[in-house]
Amino acid sequence: MNFRSIAEARYTTKKFDPTRRVPDSQIADLKHILKLSPSSINSQPWLFTFVSNKQVKDELANASYSNASKIKDASHLVVFSVMDNLEEFEKRVEENLLENSIKFYKQFVKTQPEEKTINWLSQQVYITLGFFLAACASMEIDSTPMEGIEPKKYKEILNIEDHKVLFSVALGYRHLEDDTQPNLIGKSRLAADTVIQSID
Ligand SMILES: Cc1cc2nc3c(=O)[nH]c(=O)nc-3n(C[C@H](O)[C@H](O)[C@H](O)COP(=O)(O)O)c2cc1C
Repeated sequence: MNFRSIAEARYTTKKFDPTRRVPDSQIADLKHILKLSPSSINSQPWLFTFVSNKQVKDELANASYSNASKIKDASHLVVFSVMDNLEEFEKRVEENLLENSIKFYKQFVKTQPEEKTINWLSQQVYITLGFFLAACASMEIDSTPMEGIEPKKYKEILNIEDHKVLFSVALGYRHLEDDTQPNLIGKSRLAADTVIQSID
């Protein structure tokens, strides 16, 4: 499938088939792909937590409002977090980034209020979401991105330190009875001339 067809076919899955599991080899590929995500100055301020353990996945489902049933039936849940311990983050910057990137960080990022810096770091994590959803669709794995979760509860359940949980993505295969599939209801989007302009 070319990328245009992939974009047309992917959708936010509302009901997963609870009997199907994403093979370990594809989960390994997705981990590798996430690691390759781009970020400003190659900052990589993220933590990706893959959960397939049923008990932990159910606990997270119960901290996910109306998304609970999707997570319970999904094969895996991936939790996306941003580093919010800026001291630790700066150590990472100093140890791993190129000199110009370190300069950029010190001059333009570090000089802002802490909240703005964490926002900037969070934007980098959101880039990985788009990358990840496209990767899943290209592998014919269905997905549900979710901000409708309780980040503090997630953090506690997963014992996550130095990071703030932002959102999660359920992975698996659509239930045949999911009546929100694009082949049944199409895609709902604003008109191209509302959101795209060309200056030729
Ligand atoms: C950052 C983000 C958070 C979202 N949170 C939820 C959510 O909590 N629950 C849900 O069912 N869908 C959620 N969605 C899915 C969007 O509603 C969906 O992408 C949008 O309506 C377009 O539909 P499509 O993904 O099927 O093309 C989220 C999407 C994004 C990108």
